[in-house]
Order: sequence, then structure tokens, then C-alpha cells
Amino acid sequence: MSQSIKIQFVADNEAFSPVLVLFAGKDGTLAEAAAKRVGKAVAARIKAVATTESFSGKAGSSLALPAESGLGDSPVHLLLVGTGEGETDFLRLGGQVQSKLPKGRDASVFCALPGGAFDAVAAAEFSLGFRMAAYRFDRYQTKKGEETDSKPGALSLLVDNPAAARKEAKTREAIYGGIELARDLVNEPPNVLTPAEFAKRAAGLEKLGVEIEVLDEKALKKLGMRALLGVGQGSEQESHVVVMKWLGAKDEKAAPVALVGKGVVFDTGGISIKPAESMEDMKGDMAGAAAVVGAMHALAARKAKANVVGVIGLVENMPDGKAQRPGDIVTSMSGQTIEIINTDAEGRLVLADVLWYTKTKFNPKVMVNCATLTGAIIVALGVEHAGLFSNNDELAANLTKAGLATGEKVWRMPLAPEYDKIMDSKFADVKNSGGRKGGSIIAAQFLQRFVDGCPWAHIDLAGTAMGSPVTDISKGWASGYGVRLFDRLVADHYEG
Ligand code: BES
Ligand code: MN
Ligand code: ZN
Repeated sequence: MSQSIKIQFVADNEAFSPVLVLFAGKDGTLAEAAAKRVGKAVAARIKAVATTESFSGKAGSSLALPAESGLGDSPVHLLLVGTGEGETDFLRLGGQVQSKLPKGRDASVFCALPGGAFDAVAAAEFSLGFRMAAYRFDRYQTKKGEETDSKPGALSLLVDNPAAARKEAKTREAIYGGIELARDLVNEPPNVLTPAEFAKRAAGLEKLGVEIEVLDEKALKKLGMRALLGVGQGSEQESHVVVMKWLGAKDEKAAPVALVGKGVVFDTGGISIKPAESMEDMKGDMAGAAAVVGAMHALAARKAKANVVGVIGLVENMPDGKAQRPGDIVTSMSGQTIEIINTDAEGRLVLADVLWYTKTKFNPKVMVNCATLTGAIIVALGVEHAGLFSNNDELAANLTKAGLATGEKVWRMPLAPEYDKIMDSKFADVKNSGGRKGGSIIAAQFLQRFVDGCPWAHIDLAGTAMGSPVTDISKGWASGYGVRLFDRLVADHYEG
């Protein structure tokens, strides 16, 4: 949810701030501009206090000097933050500073680096990290006023070129909007975020110039999306597919990049029902679709010069008298028949139809899908990397690079035809589940049958997008993973 933080970039270092953030390099040495800002005498006393408090200036370390300490021009709080040695990760630094601000105060922050003023990109990244760390999802916490969480009203950053910083920051604001949207969607409870409500929120991108088409069950039946519809048939909620088109390239007709997302708004497992323990987390089983919507937001808001289509499959997987059974055989839109072995392997059924639809309708340059597809990917990679599967080395390399550049890392996993025989069905073309060994790979091999030779990548973000740990730039649970990864992929390889 929006915290509406006002961020200013200033070239002089005299701006008034109730909280003054000063960066210190190794040994706690103050930045020159920071020393100038507080004056020689105070700088010397800060250094002395830093030594007494064994503040080392290591990256991530901090020392708060409240106004009452008499340092600085009272009533200014000083916050000393270490930047350590080597390259600074400004996104993380912004998050660290946000988290360390004195609680419950409106703060404006003045920052200067040991090396001088921020350059434009550093300042913009810092402000994005700051916003990301300030995100809270407290819509349903009626007593939130009593919580003294830091709610910064303003941030001012010392930069050498304010106009250039503002320009870079504008792009990051667009990206932040996408992250916030994705996080909100993942955090929303499943009684609120039905497929219809999700579709409505995705349709909100229309105001940014995104063309929206919402397909209801009648339209999906006509298209033959029986694999997707089978998953939703035990739910009271109607299933939907949403198509989002951002046509920002010079040639509106140029083949687009396609982003496809799994949007299971709640995954009980269906008739193959999940155990009760942590089932509430399955409200996040739409994090792939949320990442796609968030990325579309970012791309449209920053007016990316690329054609990108986002397609998401929205269903609820419930057990019911009408629910799909193990043993059922469905005919997918591609014509391939699928024997349902486990109704909890539902994500691949949704994606089978949405991938086929996207490929045949848009003939994209590349198609990247993302999904909270398997618990096995969490066993394999934990929460630091998403699993990447691809039939195209160049696309895989580009995603890997985008992951390293943004910190939304992916790790490539294998695809190989040997895994296919595990999915041989006695009664249909393929079965939807094949035991526990190599579960994430089998799921990816299944998806590959529905991409019709398109250069394609599948990102399994079950470990990275939901149930996430607290980090410098995320207060946890919904991380917004995928938005920056996709934005970066498009920016670096498909724009211009
Ligand atoms: N949504 C789950 C995967 C998941 C698990 C996401 C944990 C996030 C956290 C998916 O639909 C699922 O249930 N997968 C099964 C597949 C199995 C039945 C072949 C799994 O991972 O156990
Ligand atoms: Mn499932
Ligand atoms: Zn699922």
C-alpha cells in the first residue's frame, strides 16, 4: 500500500532535516560533505563517539545519535550508516536507511556519501530501495495507528545533478508502482482477491494506456481452454483470463515479448487436498500473475519502447461436488489430452492453456511464464534464486543477467526429454503429475509441450515471490519478485 513518500534531490547540503543520515566509510570516517554539513567540531565528536561505540562503518552497520546527545544542531537526530568498502549496493542502502530511521517520526533525510554527492543512478536506486522498505500491507490492521512504525514523510538526497537524478528516479517510481501493485495482490486475502477482483485490478492498468481484454468462462469455453476451466470448476468463483497489451515500440505490429502468469488465487489442492498446516499461504499462489501485472504496470508507467503482452490465468482450486477428480481426462486448447493424476498439480494445467493461447494468438518473439509452480523448487534453491527453465540459451542468459543486475536472481535448471516418460499416461496423451523425483523439472517439461516451439522460459518463483523473509528492501511475505526482473529484461534486450 502506498506510503506516499516525498523524495527530493538537492545540490546544496544546507537543507533542514529532523533526521540527518550521514554515511561513514571504513573505520567510521564521515563523508566529506557530511563533515562539512555538521561542522568540524561536531564531526570530530561523532568520530569519537563512533570509536567508543565500536562503530566500524561496515556495510549495513549503523549508529543512532539522538538529538539529546547534543551532537548536531539540536533537535536533529543523527543516524550514522556504514557503507563499508568496495562497491555500494544503493538499492539495499536505501532500504537499510529506511529501516533504521527513528520509529514513529516524520523524517526527512540528508545523505552524502564518503565519495561526495550521489550520482543520479545511485540516488534513484537509493530512493527505490527506500520506498520498497517503507512498504506495509496494513489495510486490515484496524489498530495500525498505535503501531509506531516509521512513516517517513520526506527524503532529501544530496546529489551532484538534481535534474539527472529526478529523471532516473522517475523511471524507478514507475517500477515501484509495479512492485507495490504486485505485493498488494499477493498479500490480499483470498476472500477479497477472487479471480474477478484480480481481473478488475489488472484492468486498472487501462489508465496507463494498457489495452485490456478480460475473458470470462463463456469465452474460455469457446476457445477450448478445458485444462484451465477444469481447475476452476470446483469453485463458486468464475475463472478468468486477462490479456494486457502495451504497445510502446515504434512499430505497433512488431512481434511482442509475452509474459504469462499463473494466477491461482487460492490453492487448496482440490480433491487431492493439501494438509491444513500453512494452507493459508496458498493465497499467494497467484504471485506469477501478480508479477506479470506489476511488470506491465512498470513498463507502461515508464512508457517502455517495446511491445509487451501480459496474459494471466485466474482460477480458484477448490474441492466440491463439481470439482475435478483424479482420473478425469481433459482436452486442452492445444488438442492434447491430459489425465489428471493429482488435482494439486493445477498450475501447469492453467498454464498449458494460457501458454498455448498466447503463442498462437500473438506469435511472440519470446515468451516468459512465471508461476509458484512447485514446492520442490524451494527444496532445490531456497528463497534466494527462482528456478529458470528454458528451451533457448540466449533468453536464459538474458534472464540470468537481468537477475544479477536487479538482485532478483534466477538459477538455470535442466530440461531434457528423458523426463517425459514419467508423464506417460495409460489413458491420455500426458498426465499432470509424475511422482516426487525432479518435480520442478517434470512440471517444466509439461509446460514445454504447450509452447509450440516458441523461444520460451519458465520461472518457478514459489520460493522467491511469496512467504518471503524480511530483507533490507522488503518487510516480508510478498516480495514483489519478478517485476524488476521482467522490467530489466525488456529494458536491456527488447527496447529501442
Ligand atoms: N502451488 C503449489 C506449489 C507451491 C508450494 C507454491 C509451496 C508455493 C509454496 C502447486 O500447485 C502444487 O501444489 N504443487 C505440487 C505438485 C505436485 C502435486 C506434483 C507440489 O509442489 O507439491
Ligand atoms: Mn497445487
Ligand atoms: Zn498451485
